Amino acid sequence: MNTQIGSTIIDRKHGSGVLRETEINKATETIKPSKGSFSRRSFLGKSLAAGAVTMGAGLLVNTLAAKEGNEKGKGHLKKGDAAILRFLAAAEIIEADLWQQYNELAGIQDSEVPGGTGSPAYTAAVQVLDSDMDQYIHDNTDDEITHAAFINAFLVSKGADPVNLDQFRTLPSSQATGAQQIGRLTNLMQLTVDTSWWTRYRSDNKNPDLGDTFPQAVPGLSAGQFPAIPRNDGDLAPANHLQAIANTAGFHFCFIEQGGTSLYPSLAQRVDDVEVLRVLLSIGPTEAMHFQTWHDKAGNAPPLTDPTNGLVFPDLNSPPFGGEEFQTNLIMPEPTVFLNRTFPIVSIIRPTETEGAAMGAVKALTADGLFIGQPPEFFTLLNQLAEEADAAK
Ligand SMILES: [Fe+2]
Ligand SMILES: [Fe+2]
Repeated sequence: MNTQIGSTIIDRKHGSGVLRETEINKATETIKPSKGSFSRRSFLGKSLAAGAVTMGAGLLVNTLAAKEGNEKGKGHLKKGDAAILRFLAAAEIIEADLWQQYNELAGIQDSEVPGGTGSPAYTAAVQVLDSDMDQYIHDNTDDEITHAAFINAFLVSKGADPVNLDQFRTLPSSQATGAQQIGRLTNLMQLTVDTSWWTRYRSDNKNPDLGDTFPQAVPGLSAGQFPAIPRNDGDLAPANHLQAIANTAGFHFCFIEQGGTSLYPSLAQRVDDVEVLRVLLSIGPTEAMHFQTWHDKAGNAPPLTDPTNGLVFPDLNSPPFGGEEFQTNLIMPEPTVFLNRTFPIVSIIRPTETEGAAMGAVKALTADGLFIGQPPEFFTLLNQLAEEADAAK
């Protein structure tokens, strides 16, 4: 792929033709950084100069979609389809931002995912879960960057407004050696990680869409605030503290990707246009591929107690854990109830309820602590995007 941030924009084939340079410039909010420097400032200026966003009252999205139901009255996208795509673009921009931070410290920094120089100690701790973790982190990051860029470019190609969150890239970077010092959208240093997806995918008689709830795999992670990346080089010791940070990352990877795995099928149910449906059905399963990989790796997180804060990673294969609900190699979705408890059980993604799916994603990401430090305008924008997506019929 050859899309780049900055002034050089490339021919990216889309549909029946090649997007014109001006169109791509309008869609470049999250386009890939080129040659090592992630110049937020110059990129923001470029995006704004290109008129990609309308900034008023903290809102970046043009909400003047034609009342007749077509985005901007151009007849290319239904209002609801554009709203769903815009919410997904925002979600992908957020994903790309958090994955970028993981990649700078524990991934592979290269021309596909530039930025950062790696933290050898943290990288080694993450690799305790799998020796290929750096490659997987790199590839997941690359995927998210392309998801965001593609959806924004698709929106622009249909005459609809893309999403730009650059105004909110203000959160601090990790001070650990290896991280770029740039403004971030997401905060990976005070996470409260919901690990109930672990038991949700192991149950054979419960489904969140039927009102069921699920126990945590790592109760401590869901009941405090913990870093998933070293906040500074002081976090590189003692060994079990650093490993706890790496373990937190391992479970957080799954939390993020299981969310995407549910979000796409949930929203696809209310898409109107076949091509938009194709976009959702083609991107969504890649989130499931990420989730499956991370699910396997999280099970390799070594049991330990962080000596600095008491965070416990239990042995999920031994009492009081263990069994069908916790055993670490049960990483395929256990068949469970779906739609109605009278049907036979079936192996499925869950949840996939479409009602309120976008707002549910915003709530989950917010509860995760990803947005700690963001101003009210950020939440206003995210909520607006989610409300518009959830209003699509
Ligand atoms: Fe994605
Ligand atoms: Fe993802």
